[in-house]
Amino acid sequence: MLDNYRDDTGNPSIFKSVVEAEKIIKNKYQDKEYSYFSGMEDYNSLAVKLLLGDDSVFICQKRTATVQAVGGSGALYVSGKFMAQFFPGNTCIYLPQPTWANHEAIFKFVGLEVAWYRYCDPKVSKLDFEGLMDDINKIPEKSIAFFQGCAHNPTGVDPSQEQWCEISQLVKKRQLFPVFDVAYQGFASGDFYNDAFSFRTFLQDGHKVAILQSYSKSMGLYGERTGSCTFIADCKSEADTILTQMEEIIRKTYSSPPIHGSRIVVEILADENLKYMWFQEVKMMSERLKAMRNALKENLEKAGSKHNWDHIVHQIGMFCLSKLTPKQVKKLTDDYHIYLPADGRISVAGLTTKNVQYVANAIHEVTK
Ligand SMILES: Cc1ncc(COP(=O)(O)O)c(C=O)c1O
Repeated sequence: MLDNYRDDTGNPSIFKSVVEAEKIIKNKYQDKEYSYFSGMEDYNSLAVKLLLGDDSVFICQKRTATVQAVGGSGALYVSGKFMAQFFPGNTCIYLPQPTWANHEAIFKFVGLEVAWYRYCDPKVSKLDFEGLMDDINKIPEKSIAFFQGCAHNPTGVDPSQEQWCEISQLVKKRQLFPVFDVAYQGFASGDFYNDAFSFRTFLQDGHKVAILQSYSKSMGLYGERTGSCTFIADCKSEADTILTQMEEIIRKTYSSPPIHGSRIVVEILADENLKYMWFQEVKMMSERLKAMRNALKENLEKAGSKHNWDHIVHQIGMFCLSKLTPKQVKKLTDDYHIYLPADGRISVAGLTTKNVQYVANAIHEVTK
């Protein structure tokens, strides 16, 4: 089972809004010029508005430093490199345990120290909120705390809105610098505004934050490598300085980002009709994922499984930490040709109305 979204036929569909945007781009541009080091200006401005809201005070006061990034991974790299070089405090970044494997790899690669806070115990597949608060409370002051903004990969487990508010207060008390990875905005609730709750709450509470955005999943632009990296500063001049430093990192790493994906994003975000079309498509995807979770649980129960599979429907987004053991995962692969990582993470997007019963029966067989 794969990491990118599949439709109910099991195929990686291209968004209709993206197809429409590409038609416009074909007529509009007759060039393949370089972009600026920081990417296209209108892209950066629309990307940050999607994160913070059109009327965000941080945008009005020019306190945002945004660069276009080579996907979400590029945003992790640029932000990490910037923090390793310029963060005034302790350059140790605290990650949720578990998290997407590349977080640790990229942050170590750019020279940050990496440590962990408890997030989710795979045996129970539930947020370990007490463990999280306890560990964050022990992080040395002026360190970096890393969060996934919504639809956590690989657990599918997010804090509730009330819990985000408590985390924000604790992060403030500890004087930590919060960094949000936003690779799945729209996937958790089907609504971009709701899925921005975590980092918008932190901003309202007076934190300066970094927000790393990817359009790989939310617009299906995987191979176009389209993302952004934003730091919120105290004032315009601090934002300008941060921007210059990020441009310097980009110049020395890959000079400038690709232009096709960002042109697609601009066409969609700048046009109310295309934007609406895109929002509806993301909503449909999020609803399909929810329907597949329900179908998997129902089929497991129909197959006669006596285990509790509630976590499948309580988790959100593209991934489900199934509680399958490495031995059971191996049996699924060897005997039923169902492929998933040893930690038991199911990519819910790999389920379809056609295969969900087969998958459920197989899971039932290996967990008897
Ligand atoms: C949580 C998380 N962050 C970042 C990324 C990287 O996104 P991109 O594919 O745009 O580099 C991924 C990709 O799977 C992810 O799951």
